[in-house]
Amino acid sequence: MSELTPHARHNRDYWTTQAPDYAAQARRHWAEAEPHWGIWEVPEADVGMLPAVDGLDVVELGCGTAYWSAWLARRGARPVGVDITEAQLATARELQAEHALAFPLIRASAEAVPLPDAGFDLAFSEYGASLWCEPARWIGEAARLLRPGGRLVFLTNAPLLMLCTAPDGARATERLARDQFGMYRFEWPDEDGIEFHLPHGEMIRVLGEAGFAVEALHELRRPEDAPPTRYDFVTPEWSSRWPCEEIWRARKAQCGSQASGSATSSRTCSGSSSAATSASVTCSSTERSEARTATQTSRSGSERPWKSSVSGRAPLTPASGPSIARMTSASVISAAGRASR
Ligand SMILES: C[S@@+](CC[C@H](N)C(=O)[O-])C[C@H]1O[C@@H](n2cnc3c(N)ncnc32)[C@H](O)[C@@H]1O
Repeated sequence: MSELTPHARHNRDYWTTQAPDYAAQARRHWAEAEPHWGIWEVPEADVGMLPAVDGLDVVELGCGTAYWSAWLARRGARPVGVDITEAQLATARELQAEHALAFPLIRASAEAVPLPDAGFDLAFSEYGASLWCEPARWIGEAARLLRPGGRLVFLTNAPLLMLCTAPDGARATERLARDQFGMYRFEWPDEDGIEFHLPHGEMIRVLGEAGFAVEALHELRRPEDAPPTRYDFVTPEWSSRWPCEEIWRARKAQCGSQASGSATSSRTCSGSSSAATSASVTCSSTERSEARTATQTSRSGSERPWKSSVSGRAPLTPASGPSIARMTSASVISAAGRASR
């Protein structure tokens, strides 16, 4: 594994201690037929945030026990799971064997993935890289791994939940408990992991800088018939009134098809590590500006620890999967009303 960022090392150690507690849940999820999202297990059938995945190459970043990859494989996708924690991958391997469902599992940080550029049609994360990695790092990696026109779909906590959760980690209340400006890295007194959360404007900016246009943002509402959850950071009542989780779907710009043979890194990293990769797309200026139509600038007082940009080369193989109308201008669809109840 290439050199890890300090928070990646920290989170790997944290997840090594947590993994045994997640094995039973993983076994239950692997046995289920229908994909669902987040702590309230909202069915994908009611959400509709996944593209048709049959025939797609999918990389799950921070796959954990890889039940999402299993669900996608059963729908005809070719998943590759990436996770930094060996103990989580061990559970995934055990369940692969039990279900006779094999796909590659790679132990690596989603901030520096040892896979070539432009090999995937869909990058995915549910509470994986989307929560535990620095946003610009893992989203930059997702952009590099995707073919032009590929999609990034991920679930993480809604910023509103973070704003209503006090620094002591007590359950979210109906009051704002912290500043939005400057929110970025979160640590809790009763938990050892390091999380990252961005306000919406910042997330749209990070996605735009990596070459993505936002297609949809679905704020999840707890269904009335949701099963109980093991998590205690939010109540069922709160989650029925406000979104505690959200799903983003973004699309990498469709770009020129000329391959140049070598990747050019144009990232600027500071700090102790740099992802050993490059973004992989050369866009015409029109395409690039389309991709960035989505970008809202919502600068807070806080400095970003590092910046990324996208440049480089064309796809190694053409994007597969269903043909999708070429992106024109980006739209952010708040689809809270579509959540199942
Ligand atoms: C809550 S699990 C989410 C995955 C999956 N949905 C599940 O529940 O099994 C979080 C996962 O993120 C992984 N993770 C944390 N930091 C990571 C990093 N830098 N790169 C890759 N995976 C990471 C952890 O090892 C853990 O397996």
